[in-house]
Parts: sequence; C-alpha cells; structure tokens
Amino acid sequence: KQILIINGPNLNLLGKREPTIYGNRSFVDYLKTIEELFPEVQLRYFQSNHEGELIDKIHELGFDIDGIVINAGAYTHTSIAIADALSAVTAPAVEVHISNVHARESFRHHSYLSAKCKGVIVGLGLKGYELAIQYLVMNDK
Ligand code: DQA
Repeated sequence: KQILIINGPNLNLLGKREPTIYGNRSFVDYLKTIEELFPEVQLRYFQSNHEGELIDKIHELGFDIDGIVINAGAYTHTSIAIADALSAVTAPAVEVHISNVHARESFRHHSYLSAKCKGVIVGLGLKGYELAIQYLVMNDK
C-alpha cells in the first residue's frame, strides 16, 4: 500500500514551533517511527508552505495511491481549493491536527477539508498520523 502524508504551512517547524502546543519532536524524526511501525507501507511525505504546491501534490499522486493523510495547517480553515483537490482525486483522505483545534481559537473550529475526508483526528499529537495510516491500510475500510 502507498500512503501520502501531506503537511501544510509551518509544519516544517515542528519541534521548534510553539512546543507547548505542538511538542518538541521534528516531523522528520517522527517519520522514522512511522516507517518502523508500517514496514509494509510505502510512505510518501510532502511538506510545503505554499497552497498551490499542496494541490499539485494531491493531483500528482491522488489517483494512484491508497490514501492521503493531510494536515493542511492553517489552510484547513481557509482553503476551498485544497478541499476541491481532495474531492477531485480518488484516494481517500484522513484529516489530522496535532492540537485540539476545538479547544483553541474559534477560527480553528471550522475546516473546509473535513467534509471531503473519511474522518478527522484532532488533538492526539503526532500519534494522530499513525492512527490515520492504520485506518487507511485496513482492508475492510
Ligand atoms: C494544526 C492546527 C491549525 O489550526 C494550525 O494553523 C496549524 C497546525 C494542528 O496540527 O494542530 O498550523 O493543523
């Protein structure tokens, strides 16, 4: 199985960025853990701070892979274009947020992406990515 993990803006700074909210582990370090947990899965990882690049990647791989795990960062709350890209492709997606967005500012409570995803995992830290992959590689989704 092939799974694409997409991280949006500012998530390249995980580990350094507001560690009380997002923890002090970098995503590249965490990726090693996921690779160990899912040796049978071909993981593709893409991070960008640019909305159009996130969309291009969804188009490029979204018809060929088995699932997308997406944390679009703040674009979650603004981007109809990323929502449309998720609708356009065939791969099912799971939305992940490291922090509990519902316990934070009200502008983080709405997501344009949730309706285009099979499900949403929020507030469980980096663990959310593992849970999303586990779901996407299940045979009887
Ligand atoms: C986030 C939550 C968003 O509101 C925020 O803009 C982020 C990170 C999270 O993973 O908790 O950049 O998606």
